[in-house]
Amino acid sequence: MNIGIDKIGFYTPDQYVDMEKLAEIRGVDPAKYTIGIGQEKMAVAPLHEDAVSMGANAALSILDGEDREKIDLVLFGTESGVDHSKSGAVWVHHLTGIQENACSFELKQACYGATAGIKMAMGHIALNPDSKVLVIGADIAKYGLNTTGEPTQGAGAVAMVLSSDPHIFALDNDSAALTKDISDFWRPLYSDFAFVDGKYSNESYLSFLKAVWGVYKEKTQRDLKDFEALCFHLPYTKMAKKAILTLTEEANEEDAERLMSHYQNSIVYNKQVGNVYTGALYLSLLSLLEQGPELKEGSRIGLFSYGSGAVGEFFSGVVQADYKHYINKENNESLLNTRRELTTDEYEAISEKALPKDGSNIEINNDQVVEGRAYLAAIQDNLRKYAIK
Ligand code: COA
Repeated sequence: MNIGIDKIGFYTPDQYVDMEKLAEIRGVDPAKYTIGIGQEKMAVAPLHEDAVSMGANAALSILDGEDREKIDLVLFGTESGVDHSKSGAVWVHHLTGIQENACSFELKQACYGATAGIKMAMGHIALNPDSKVLVIGADIAKYGLNTTGEPTQGAGAVAMVLSSDPHIFALDNDSAALTKDISDFWRPLYSDFAFVDGKYSNESYLSFLKAVWGVYKEKTQRDLKDFEALCFHLPYTKMAKKAILTLTEEANEEDAERLMSHYQNSIVYNKQVGNVYTGALYLSLLSLLEQGPELKEGSRIGLFSYGSGAVGEFFSGVVQADYKHYINKENNESLLNTRRELTTDEYEAISEKALPKDGSNIEINNDQVVEGRAYLAAIQDNLRKYAIK
């Protein structure tokens, strides 16, 4: 039985800052951000958007009545959780109208959370072939104004329905993982901003990639020639280029060229959104599937997931016949193209706004929320209240 991604959708807030304009006010050569880091636009979350509302909106873009009846597990990967106890999955379950006899919970390991959800969903469907699982990766990446991490911020969510006999992407069951206790990136419970040792994180990412690729190759006897394309966790899009160059150091020209030829298609969405942490790898996969030429049925794609701290995993899957009919390119392009550009002053003002932390109540203005979307409406008696406009 094949198990994999039957539907995939994404959501990002409807406002962004242009990276060249951000570079100007930071006194940096714009090419550093657009070429050196590889980002063009950066999504900025308003006060009424958080991981929960964005996760719900990504799910609302793909779920139909049958999904709502058949989903019996909701897995919410995030490192931007909004409550130490209650999971974002419970709110998403409610906001999306999934039948009530479902389990819902949250998974955390930096940017690996959504992959943890995928692995768990595979096991669940293997035991319950008729069920469907909703896996979400939703995050706001924040390092703060005037920090080295600033150009690698972003916000957004990816939602996937996993099932048996999937229409889009069937996952292979032979991944290779690695865990090591390192401190390349972390966010203490008291801090709104992540702490990152950027250079060390880049090095760790690539050394984890090399290690798990080695184990994967040995386990499966597959090599680069068996892959049509590769997708990577993308803290910023230049990272995939470094990753491909690392894996193809000793490859023949044909393999190296083929794998690099898909790179531009696999970063189209990430380049316009920024880092979405746990959803980033899956946003890159979606970008490849929607923005690239149609891949032949059975083409194998390798995926590298990396969650700082750190866990890395290399796994793979094959594209299904007619997968292009089951993705929604027009919808996703329109989501990106109808966003509002913020001035750099507006971006800075929004970045400095925060929800109250002293237990006071707040009603959040919903004038800017698009009809039919989930949003954070209020905090009342210490509880977040979400609504659909
Ligand atoms: N034109 C073109 N490229 C330029 C340039 C210019 N004018 N100026 C600099 N660059 C290149 C650099 O050569 C470098 O490329 P390289 O990485 O291929 O060597 C790149 O731009 C970045 O420059 P650098 O000086 O290394 O930037 P930085 O010290 O400001 O830090 C990050 C960049 C990405 C390390 C930093 O933004 C960061 O830590 N982000 C967070 C990353 C993260 O989230 N990690 C955890 C999850 S995996």
